[in-house]
Amino acid sequence: MKQFPAFLDLSGRRIVIAGGGAAALQKARLFAAAGAELFVVGRPLVPALAEELADRAVLIERTAVANDFAAATLAVVAEDDEARAEALAAAAREQGALVNVVDRPELCDFLTPSIIDRGEVVVAVSTGGAAPVLGRRLRAQIETLLPARLGELAAFARSFRRAVAGKVPPPLRRRFWERFFDGPLAAQVLAGDARGAREAMLAEINRADAEAAGEGVVHIVGAGPGDPELLTLRALRLLQEADVILYDRLVGEEILALARRDAARVYVGKAKSNHALPQEEIEALLVRYAREGKRVVRLKGGDPFVFGRGGEELDALRAAGVRAFVTPGITAATGCAAAVGMPLTHRDHAQAVTFVTGHAKGEGDPDLDWSALARLGHTLVVYMGVGKARRIAENLIGAGRAPATPVAVVENGARPDQRALKGTLAELGALIEEGGVKGPAILVVGEVAALAEACTLDALARELAERAAA
Ligand SMILES: C[S@@+](CC[C@H](N)C(=O)[O-])C[C@H]1O[C@@H](n2cnc3c(N)ncnc32)[C@H](O)[C@@H]1O
Repeated sequence: MKQFPAFLDLSGRRIVIAGGGAAALQKARLFAAAGAELFVVGRPLVPALAEELADRAVLIERTAVANDFAAATLAVVAEDDEARAEALAAAAREQGALVNVVDRPELCDFLTPSIIDRGEVVVAVSTGGAAPVLGRRLRAQIETLLPARLGELAAFARSFRRAVAGKVPPPLRRRFWERFFDGPLAAQVLAGDARGAREAMLAEINRADAEAAGEGVVHIVGAGPGDPELLTLRALRLLQEADVILYDRLVGEEILALARRDAARVYVGKAKSNHALPQEEIEALLVRYAREGKRVVRLKGGDPFVFGRGGEELDALRAAGVRAFVTPGITAATGCAAAVGMPLTHRDHAQAVTFVTGHAKGEGDPDLDWSALARLGHTLVVYMGVGKARRIAENLIGAGRAPATPVAVVENGARPDQRALKGTLAELGALIEEGGVKGPAILVVGEVAALAEACTLDALARELAERAAA
């Protein structure tokens, strides 16, 4: 570590900035936010100084001199002239101030970091003056990870510190707070409802006992269709907090890589007719880990409540008395639709959309109301329908859907190996077979499918012919 980070209470402390340009303005903004007694001395002063800071800083329009630094805790020199900057820095240091000279790290006693300011919660990033742009990049990345109301959450927790200390004995206190920050109350505060959370927090404190403090928790989390950027911010946070992650076949390595390095990863995935773990065993494992006091994430492709058996897992956890929460994910239908520019509803083409599973028990047809699904102006999205595509098309045509109805097939949507094909309902079986679609894929039937950015059977045949000729 080249520099030691420390957080200063600057309220009422004198800070003097020598210089009146853009760099001085930038530093003045930083220190004004910290409640310091701020002096800016320079000539000329950029107008924004007066516009933004007239009520929070003393602005003096003249060249800075050594005496300006008297009684200053911190001094910032934002002067272009190198010799003048060095002389002012020396004078400030002589009078007991810690000095920062803009863009001259070798002359600095302290550096100003890139700051993420959430009120009570402050994160500072420094590259030791080596690469300020990198520092700003890191700040932007961290910004996206931190909920906007983090400061409110910290203030909320502070307001209950004494009450918790009075009720929960020290060995269990940390666990209490971990449960609070992982649980629905913190989520409620982060969602802007601190008032509503207060009563429940009091009840929680009153209930706090040894047993509750040892409890684990299971979060059933949707990982989206594959692209890590389609994770929700909450899913990302839960992944980074989890002790154990139980994940499915459809969750890729790129998403797992976002988890804490030391989290245990348990593959429980299922491929059709290749069940890695029966459903009851997955549920038993979730209960067992939670009872060991672990923070468990059950990570599922897409959304856990859309053909994801999330409902069964939630039931099992509730029946076992385990605290469980659900974080939604982007389901394959919406993820794939966005990836190929195909709206699922459209004022001109489709006023309704239905998600169905093409999966049937055994070899038969899925048990669906084909005439309801064959309606005009209606988009049908079939999950797990690749193996039954031909039968699905026959059933829909038999129920009155026109053979010329547009269809699209999106395989590995929102992943690097995404493929999209389109044609007519009569061609659906051929699209799957000639396109070599293995899945995971969704089938989309309805007028909107014509809008998909996808390859047609003709184009596919040309492509195959060209490949064979090459
Ligand atoms: C067991 S279901 C899980 C659905 C998941 N819970 C969701 O909300 O997307 C698996 C089916 O989802 C569809 N699927 C999941 N991810 C997909 C992707 N990236 N591209 C296309 N289809 C996908 C396929 O139809 C696959 O057979």
